[in-house]
Amino acid sequence: MSDTRTALVTGANKGIGYEIAAGLGALGWNVGVGARERSRREEAVARLRETGVDAFAVPLDVTDDDSVAAAAQLVTERVGHLDALVNNAGITGGFPQQPSTVDPDTIRTVVETNVIGVVRVTNVMLPLLRRSSAPRIVNVSSSVGSLTRQSGPDSETTTGPVAVAYSTSKTFLNAVTLQYVRELAGTGILVNLACPGFVATDLNGFRGLRTPQQGAVTAIRLATLPDDGPTGGFFEDDGVIPW
Ligand SMILES: NC(=O)c1ccc[n+]([C@@H]2O[C@H](COP(=O)([O-])OP(=O)(O)OC[C@H]3O[C@@H](n4cnc5c(N)ncnc54)[C@H](OP(=O)(O)O)[C@@H]3O)[C@@H](O)[C@H]2O)c1
Repeated sequence: MSDTRTALVTGANKGIGYEIAAGLGALGWNVGVGARERSRREEAVARLRETGVDAFAVPLDVTDDDSVAAAAQLVTERVGHLDALVNNAGITGGFPQQPSTVDPDTIRTVVETNVIGVVRVTNVMLPLLRRSSAPRIVNVSSSVGSLTRQSGPDSETTTGPVAVAYSTSKTFLNAVTLQYVRELAGTGILVNLACPGFVATDLNGFRGLRTPQQGAVTAIRLATLPDDGPTGGFFEDDGVIPW
């Protein structure tokens, strides 16, 4: 097995995912740029390579079984293992999302990407992760999925507007992640959740207050944890987020 570590980042063509790829690349990692649309994917890989990152393109739509299977095949043939999987791809489903008026299809669509997509990708990539000496899974969640913060007195400030599809999809993702933590306990695969903070990206019409580089920091830290690092945690830059 080569000393170079390899990561796959989903939704890496822009925003926080791109910066996670750039940050891991700057640490010397070989980075698979998972992205569903060809021109956006190729452009991101070219930009990363221009800055010296050892990046390669991975066509990947997290909602599509065949696409995800093909992505795993590509990583298998090209690298043979995976040291870190960063499940970053995500959507909001658009706003407003009042529970009383939401189209149920909005919830279905968001869950399909933000939750089922993570399960679909993780399960196909697990055999590759098991071949790593220090495998890590990072699921990019959000503090808006924190039930503690949602139910606290400052919920509007700490978790933003009511969002029955997006916020709940992140709560669901957190719960699903804990099931992986339990199943994978003792395997050496460390599984954690990262919240990037409120970051200016397409996701929020660039209204976020942090840069994508800042938003990438926690995910990069969790992808590069030492063997005695945590598993089953929900982290932001300032520390642990309450469930
Ligand atoms: N921005 C924030 O303030 C914030 C806060 C908390 C958590 N997050 C989380 O951070 C992650 C990244 O979001 P971002 O802010 O960087 O948003 P973004 O700029 O909109 O990027 C989202 C990425 O996900 C990709 N994606 C969406 N659906 C996909 C699919 N079916 N298959 C593959 N890729 C797909 C997008 O690809 P396309 O370009 O093809 O659409 C894009 O690359 C998300 O999980 C989000 O929930 C963001």
